[in-house]
Amino acid sequence: MHIDKYERYWLIAVAAMLGAFAAALVATTVVFGIRLPGPVGRVDPQNLADSDFANPGVVNLGNNTYEVHVVAKMWAYDIGAEAGIPPTLRFPKGSEVTFYVTSQDIIHGFYIEDHTLNLEVVPGQIAKGTAKFNRPGTFMIICNQYCGAGHAVMFGTIVVE
Ligand code: CUA
Repeated sequence: MHIDKYERYWLIAVAAMLGAFAAALVATTVVFGIRLPGPVGRVDPQNLADSDFANPGVVNLGNNTYEVHVVAKMWAYDIGAEAGIPPTLRFPKGSEVTFYVTSQDIIHGFYIEDHTLNLEVVPGQIAKGTAKFNRPGTFMIICNQYCGAGHAVMFGTIVVE
């Protein structure tokens, strides 16, 4: 079968490009360990009082690591009385914070400004994500899933100092 010279060049270019994309995918998962966030567990949204979400809030695990349980609901994040509503969380610079987020009603979002954390918060599921706060500043937590009349006022603040 005769293949024109330029057609052959294009076929080689396409094959090389597909190979490069496949290599990039493998590199992100194997070398850099990047994964799409997925649910890490299930929980009964009608019965959060009997779960790890009974007392939302921040737990200091030492060594600049923290664990935070968050209950999203129309239209606020419940991160405990100490954080208030809308909540304000404070972490020292260099903290590594793992968030566990669930919803007690409908789908919400949990996005932290300027950090690589963006979770979809689905009732019945536990979303988990870790953020490193290396830079001092004030960063918004934003519900980025439209969730009704109060969607625009569903936010929180993280202060890194
Ligand atoms: Cu909750 Cu939008």
